[in-house]
Amino acid sequence: MRFDGRTAVITGGAIGFGRAFARALTAEGARVAILDVDVDMAERTAAELDSAIAVRCDVADEDQVTAAAAATVDRFGGIDILINNAGLHLTKYNQPFGVLSRSEIRSLFDVNVMGVINTTLACRDAMRDRGGGVVLNISSMAGYMSATPYAVSKLTVRGLTVAFATELAPDRIRVNAIAPGLMNTENALADLPRPMIDEFVYERQLINRLGTMDDVVSAMLFLCSDEASFITGETLKVSGGYPLNF
Ligand SMILES: NC(=O)c1ccc[n+]([C@@H]2O[C@H](COP(=O)([O-])OP(=O)(O)OC[C@H]3O[C@@H](n4cnc5c(N)ncnc54)[C@H](O)[C@@H]3O)[C@@H](O)[C@H]2O)c1
Repeated sequence: MRFDGRTAVITGGAIGFGRAFARALTAEGARVAILDVDVDMAERTAAELDSAIAVRCDVADEDQVTAAAAATVDRFGGIDILINNAGLHLTKYNQPFGVLSRSEIRSLFDVNVMGVINTTLACRDAMRDRGGGVVLNISSMAGYMSATPYAVSKLTVRGLTVAFATELAPDRIRVNAIAPGLMNTENALADLPRPMIDEFVYERQLINRLGTMDDVVSAMLFLCSDEASFITGETLKVSGGYPLNF
């Protein structure tokens, strides 16, 4: 299997994309550590998988992240893949900066931006000790299309992808990102009015269907695998062709 003998750390892996990533990677032979603030849900997800552990961890907290990386190495012997998936993406973060309080903006950036920095730096040595590794960041098409606090946090994730691809290259660590568009997940669709979804899918996208979890999972499997061994510093849009730009 493609990921036999490899260990993946997935932040925010209790539900949503992260859980789908954990399922797909363990099905391909990987061992997985699920780092999540919702440790009860993370434990439930880990229990349904082969070779998975749940670790209580707030990615915004450097000490917790360092401890979680150490717990993963203790349990599985190393780290080969890190997926920076945990993110705050509630509708409230898509309002103008001036509408949110400073503490709400800080919380958003602590998770979506500092979280990526904390986990990447915490897992770096373990990946270097294995002779290399892969980091995959989950950005968003919002980072190409708007300028809300959420969008700017995801634009920053693209910047961090380039920065860490450069900084970690000497350790043979590849760093890429996926920018999902409108995806058919419960949380993403719950707040959006149906006419807005239809306009997006049928008038803006080039491929006129809703994106699915599987669309993002297959991009993740490719970018984390050796098939992508010559790809680093890239953000792959998984968006049905919207927006189309160069
Ligand atoms: N759902 C979409 O359509 C969509 C589109 C583009 C990008 N994204 C991005 O994909 C990622 C996952 O999205 P989702 O829809 O699966 O999210 P979700 O809200 O369904 O799940 C997020 C998980 O992250 C965990 N989490 C939240 N804060 C955390 C923290 N500080 N530390 C550790 N874990 C934390 C939550 O407990 C939860 O398990 C996010 O980064 C999101 O911004 C999602």
